Amino acid sequence: MNAVSNPSVYSIFTAVSLTVLVPTGEITGSEMTLVCLADFKAQAQKQLSKTSWDFVEGEADDGITYNDNMAAFKRIRLRPRYLRDVSNVDTRTTIQGQEIDAPICISPTAFHSIAWPDGEKSTARAAQEANICYVIGSYSSYTLEDIVAAAPRGFHWFQLYVQPDWDINKQMVQRVEALGFKALVITVDVPILGNRRGNKRNELNLEANIKLKDLRSPGEKNCTLSALSSLPSTSFCWKDLSLLQRITRLPIILKGILTKEDAELALKHNVQGIIVSNHGGRQLDEVLASIDALREVVAAVKGKIEVYMDGGVRTGNDVLKALALGARCIFLGRPILWGLACKGEHGVKEVLNILKTELHTCMTLSGCRSVSEISPDLIQFSRL
Ligand code: LAC
Repeated sequence: MNAVSNPSVYSIFTAVSLTVLVPTGEITGSEMTLVCLADFKAQAQKQLSKTSWDFVEGEADDGITYNDNMAAFKRIRLRPRYLRDVSNVDTRTTIQGQEIDAPICISPTAFHSIAWPDGEKSTARAAQEANICYVIGSYSSYTLEDIVAAAPRGFHWFQLYVQPDWDINKQMVQRVEALGFKALVITVDVPILGNRRGNKRNELNLEANIKLKDLRSPGEKNCTLSALSSLPSTSFCWKDLSLLQRITRLPIILKGILTKEDAELALKHNVQGIIVSNHGGRQLDEVLASIDALREVVAAVKGKIEVYMDGGVRTGNDVLKALALGARCIFLGRPILWGLACKGEHGVKEVLNILKTELHTCMTLSGCRSVSEISPDLIQFSRL
């Protein structure tokens, strides 16, 4: 099993106690007016224990890519157009044919109960109300059934870490199809976990407190991470995509593609979408910032499939820039956990709403009445 054969992966989830990670659910940030995602970040850091905070932030190695994800957005300048009628600005769009209220969705992140007792159930309720897509992760603190029951009208994709045991993959696919999930998101950048120094320093032990109720072997009822082969397959590769395509009728989205070469292979293997991502700088350090990699991937894909991105999106301007550079929508990772840590479900709703409102404002100020009017002309390429 990967976890055993690769101690660096395994050790990140083993060691002492996790009781320090359990949040109280007290909304001490509720009196505060948090007006931007940076405010949520600052407040979340106060709410969470150091160990939890370090897990959530969790950058790999020197954090070069983690920082560059945000900095790269700030190197891009805008070219607004004026004297257009912007009395009606519409942020709605579609992904994989389904309408969402804004091009702002939720990336898979692990163990939401670290931030808020109700974990993914709160996230799902907030996403349902915002009418956007929530990609529920393989490493969730509630079962998929519980999460979907909390938000039965929600728009859900499932993020699968392909397992070495194809019985488990098949079982997971059948469950998510039965639960009404609309796509499978296959994370490609985690053959092993990246080197998270913070977790090592804190001797973080997730398995002590968080039960992985999904991704268990068929027949097993309730396994902790240590008791199963729940870390991704190290041998999963392009040719195995057809195995996956044979066991599902859902669209397959690859998450973690960063190069034109892999984008072309994705097209060749008939996937339906790509999320350009470097896992929030948690995996291989010193790769391109997501917004910089986006252009290469968009150029290679030539509009044949939808391209999305995550990594470093913190403002409405960032969303505008990502869309102008060809992303169909963006996904949020850490900011959702900040929302949860500050105010649970309401915090997630606020984070989503702040970003949507900021996007609406900068669309209005740049002369874009609909997302289809957000074009590469908005970007000052010479400054990149
Ligand atoms: C992480 C994995 C579990 O980044 O997705 O922590």
